[in-house]
Order: sequence, then structure tokens, then C-alpha cells
Amino acid sequence: MNSRLATLILCAVSLTCSTANTQAVTPSAPPALVLGAAWYPEQWPESRWDADLDLMQKAGITMVRVGEFAWSRMEPSDGHYDLDWLDNAVTAAGRHGIYTVIGTPSAAPPAWLTQKYPETLRTLEDGRKDQHGNRQQFNWANPKYRQLSRGMAEQLAKRFGHNPWVIGWQIDNEYANVSFDDATKAQFQDWLKARYSTLDNLNARWTTSYWSETYSNWNQVPIETKYGNPGLLLSWMRFVSDTWRSYQKNQTEVIRANSEPRQFITTNMMGWFDGYDHYTVSQDLDLASWDDYVGQGQLDPYRNGAAHDLTRGFLRKNFWVMETQPGFVNWQKINNSLDKGEVRAMAWHAIGHGADAVSYWQWRSALNGQEQYHGTLVGPDGTPVPLYTEVAQLGAEFAKAAPALAGTSVKSDVAILHSYDSRWAINWQRHNTNYDPVSEIVSYYKPLRDLSQSVDIVSPSVSLTQYKLVVAPGLNVLSDAEAKNLIAYVEQGGNLVLGQRTAMKDADNTLQTQRQPGPLASILGGRVEQYYALTDPIPVYGAWTEGSKPTGNKTVATKTAATSSDWAELLSTQSPDTKVLLRFGKSNGWLDDQPAAITRKVGKGSITYIGAYLDPTTMTKAAKWMLDISHVQPKLGKLPEGIDVYPREGPNGKVYILVNFNKSPQTITLPTPMQDILNGGTKTTLTLPTYGVSVLSTQ
Ligand code: GAL
Repeated sequence: MNSRLATLILCAVSLTCSTANTQAVTPSAPPALVLGAAWYPEQWPESRWDADLDLMQKAGITMVRVGEFAWSRMEPSDGHYDLDWLDNAVTAAGRHGIYTVIGTPSAAPPAWLTQKYPETLRTLEDGRKDQHGNRQQFNWANPKYRQLSRGMAEQLAKRFGHNPWVIGWQIDNEYANVSFDDATKAQFQDWLKARYSTLDNLNARWTTSYWSETYSNWNQVPIETKYGNPGLLLSWMRFVSDTWRSYQKNQTEVIRANSEPRQFITTNMMGWFDGYDHYTVSQDLDLASWDDYVGQGQLDPYRNGAAHDLTRGFLRKNFWVMETQPGFVNWQKINNSLDKGEVRAMAWHAIGHGADAVSYWQWRSALNGQEQYHGTLVGPDGTPVPLYTEVAQLGAEFAKAAPALAGTSVKSDVAILHSYDSRWAINWQRHNTNYDPVSEIVSYYKPLRDLSQSVDIVSPSVSLTQYKLVVAPGLNVLSDAEAKNLIAYVEQGGNLVLGQRTAMKDADNTLQTQRQPGPLASILGGRVEQYYALTDPIPVYGAWTEGSKPTGNKTVATKTAATSSDWAELLSTQSPDTKVLLRFGKSNGWLDDQPAAITRKVGKGSITYIGAYLDPTTMTKAAKWMLDISHVQPKLGKLPEGIDVYPREGPNGKVYILVNFNKSPQTITLPTPMQDILNGGTKTTLTLPTYGVSVLSTQ
């Protein structure tokens, strides 16, 4: 531990150190790496604020997010705003060199509002009205609620839109709950009218002649969320997404009109949550951010890392972790704490994946309220909990590493395609209850990340030309425009790998009249003859299952016990240059010895279809094959298993963040000497303990 860090920690723990600067400071640009905390000054007397901010400053915290649930304090009665306290809080934070992100408080409307405007309450799916006492009880489509939340946001923007300490805005908090009232249903029906123009068109595209679903009036169309017509289900989710977008725009408009462009606007999203299409909602934001919680258990660097990459893909640039757990949460069955060192490893894991900020929820528990047991950085007595020192270490490290990481971002040769339409469509009709589209994505992601050391996750509608390899694990719903995008990518020399259930449906969630992969079948020169849900894993054999192992002084060929689980697609080749890579072994008769994966070269590019849900060993071999044919090299070279590397690149060179997720120390030999940003010096080998972190630079 270096001496500066030791001093900081000592200061933080003893509370006697007087290094904190409580004079007025003029803000410069916020740091390139931001360490933050959710702070709720409205819950504490103003006389306490400086003690909290002092502790934050000593831990290297440079940002507080405030306000997102404080509506009753900001507007104590209808039209009577009180923002002086918030102004004082922003100023007090600034005195400690701490920037502020202001959350608009619309996720928690005050009691007077609900009482006076009961029409703003949401209606649950079973017809019951929500009530005051929790949060998110509002109706996101209700015009009165929009008027009131816009008014509140406008007051905030007028007051803080030019405040030098305010660096950004968070709209609302974790969009999630929607409403099923009649007025919202009417809005949905209007939305359908705008999209489909005529009922004849809607009826045809949804095949409503099935089960007498035919509509003769727009007002007959119901809301369905689980077991409705697939066209109706998808339309409802698109309406939900568009309505969140307009809900958000209602506030961003007044903030943009009253604030400086340097202040970003974001909203805190929720990783894999699929309650709306995040690509739709992100497009009006300056920054994507998400709330990164492990909940029960330990950090899964893959599923969690993929969620970072997903969030980075919303705007295709660096993002923020707006909330993360200080050790533990309060909403799981067992709210275990992350291990000592794991919180720090998790923060660097986030930075490695392209986060420029990590912010803890929350600084200190409200003394009462629903979340008394949640992890914090200080206790109810206002003094540091044990984790505080680990976070203070991060604060010192962020300050050290910020210059090297400034201006860097993640650059990948490999992209995984992800679409909400497809995830919803599969989840509504899984056909095998164990078939989880996110797990399928992660099954590809894991070996691809291990072997290439950097993967983007993006929408199928973005330009793909920058990638050497594009993998689409479950693109079940494929629009004509997306199909054209993929075909153009292959024709221009890209390598495309399609996973199971690809292109079974068109943009209305209607079955394609061509067999899978629909519009991609012709370029593939092959197709899916039939799909089979599996009760038990079945064998597969071929290109990715042959192995060899040394026995005595000979090397003998072996066959691994390769399998497909949950799902199998019987493929056929339709073109002489489409090759079979993998076949199913003996199983249900239909699949026996039939193609399970096929591939075709197209000019300099290629297209491959994998109809098996591969076991991890076989998937790793498949991933290696995909990367080899695409000429993708690992960014840093071979590393011991369990050592994760996260490369970020900038105009001045590359930075590699390494984290050891093994249960034992690991020694790493670097391909070239690099600067050790956290410990100083130049390194060619280094040893990392469990949860150890190294930040290396080529600059
Ligand atoms: C988040 C939420 C926070 C807090 C946190 C607890 O989902 O945005 O306000 O409730 O969970 O883990």
C-alpha cells in the first residue's frame, strides 16, 4: 500500500484528519474515472452534510447522485417548489470537490399528488389500482402525470442547468412498471393505427383469422402480455418501449432547454432487464448507465461482463455504472456480502468493460424506510463500515489511473447481436422451458471473450463493417432491413455465425414462409428442416469434437462427449459449397447423423449456422474455429485461466486491466514490458492474488 493511500485510509477511519478542503473550490472538468455514491441529503439535517461529504472526499468519491426520490421535499405542495436545500447540498458537495448528478424525482411521486390526482396512479394487470407507500406507482402514459413530472424537471433544470458542479441528469429511476388502464389501452390502439394504418393490414399481418381474432374496430384490440397473438404481444412491448421513450423525452426536453450541453442526460437501466427495448429508449440520451447488482452469490464475470457490454452497446460508447452494491443488497433470499477484495475487483471489471464511473448505492441507510438492511459505506452512526477502506483504496486508484484511461474505450473485433424482439419472442414461446435466450447469448459470449479478450454486444441494425466476426445466437425475429444488413456484411467479407432459432419470424413476430434462417437461407445455402425440443442432452460429433491426448509416447485421437442440450435443429445443405461441420449422434431417429452445423464461404466472408446448443467444451472449440476463420487474435495474448483482461484503447496507446478471479494467486508473463499504473515501474511479469487487479499501460 502506498503512503498516500495509507494516509487516506487512516484519515477516513479516524475521522480526525484535516486534509479535507471545505473552502469554496472552482470546478474544473470532472475526472476521467468517477467514483460516486447515491446520497440522500433530504434524509439528514443540513448540519450533518459536511461530515458525510468529508468522509466521501477522503475516500476519493468525486460524484454524488442526489434527488431521484425527493419529490415530496422538492415540491411540498402542488406548485410550491423548494429547491434551496438541494442548492445548498450541491454547493456543499462542491466545497469538497464533489460533482453532482441530479435525478429527476418522478419515480416517487408525493402523497399529495396521488391524493389530488388519483388518475396518475397506474392500474395493475389484474385491474387493481396501485397506491401510495412504495415507489413507481405512477402511470407512465398518463398525461397529467407527464405534466406534473415535466413541471418538476423544468424547475430543477432552471435552477441547476448552469450550476458548474452539476455534471449531468438522471431521468427517473429504473423504468419498469407500466399501466393497464383503459386510457392507456386507447393509446395503444392509436399506436397500432399509426403503425398498421388499416385493420385489414393488421389482421393480415397478425393472421387474426386464427381463433376468430379478427378485429373490425380498433377499440376491440386488447392488451396481452403473455399468451396472446404473437403479433399483439410484440406490438404491446414496442408500444411500452415507445411510451417510455416519450415519457423520458417529456423530461429531457425541458432539461435540454434550460441547461448547458456539457451536462449529460442518462437514465439508470438494469442490465438484462427486458421490460422495454433499451435501444429505443437510449437513442435520446447522451450516456447509457446501469445499476449493476450481483444480489445473491458472487460476481459472475461473464454474465455480468456481458451486461456491461450490452449497456456499452446501447450508444456504442463508454457508459456509467450508476449504482452498485457496497457489499450486499437487501432484496435477495440470502443477501450475502461480496468477499473482501471482490467489490474492488468488480469495480475494475466494470471499468475494463468501458465504464467511466462506478457509483455505490448507497452512502448511508435512511434510518427508516424499506431498505434498512442494504449495504452502505457508513453505518447508521455515520462512521465508516469495514468496506469503506476498500472503496477508499479504489478512490485513490481511480485518481492514479484516470490520466492513462482518459480518452480510451473498448475496441472489439467480435460482435454478438442482441435484440429485444427476439428475446421476447423466444420467452413467450420457449418451447422448452429451460431455453433461456440470455443464457444462450452468454454460452457464446464466454469462450469468445476468453479467446478474443474483447466482445461488443450490439443491435442487428447497426453497421457491422468494423467487425471481423459477428455472432447472432438467437435472432429469432429478423426484420427485412436487419436481414439486408447481415447479408451485406457477409458479402463485404464479414464472417457471420447464426445460432439456434434464427430468423424463424419476421418483424411482426409472424412465421417466415421460408424455412429458417428465412431471408438468410439462400446466402447460407442451407436451412433448418425441423427443430426439436430435447428432454436430455444428445451427442454431436464433427469438427469441434475431435481431440487428441498424449498417452505414453503416442498421441491418440479421442472423442469428447460433446452434446446439444434443450434444443436441436436438423439442418440440410442446399448448395454444393455449403459444408457440414457437425452432426447429431444417435438420438430420436430424426436427428441421427444429420447436420447440426453448416458453413459456406461467400467471397472473402462466410456464413455459418449452428443448430446445436453446445456444451461448454465444444462451444469453446467452436469459438476458436470462428475466431480462426475470422483472423481474430487475443488482444493481449494467452493468459492463465481465470485471469480476465480488459483492453481499452486511446489515441496515446492501450491500457490493459487485469483481474484475477481465481481462488489462488496467478503469475502472468506479459508479451512486452508495460507500465504498472497502480504500483509504478515497468513490468514484464506480475503475480496477482485472488481478486487482485493490475492496470497496465503501453503509453
Ligand atoms: C435499485 C434502485 C435503488 C435501490 C437499490 C437497492 O434497483 O434503483 O433505488 O433500491 O436497487 O439495491
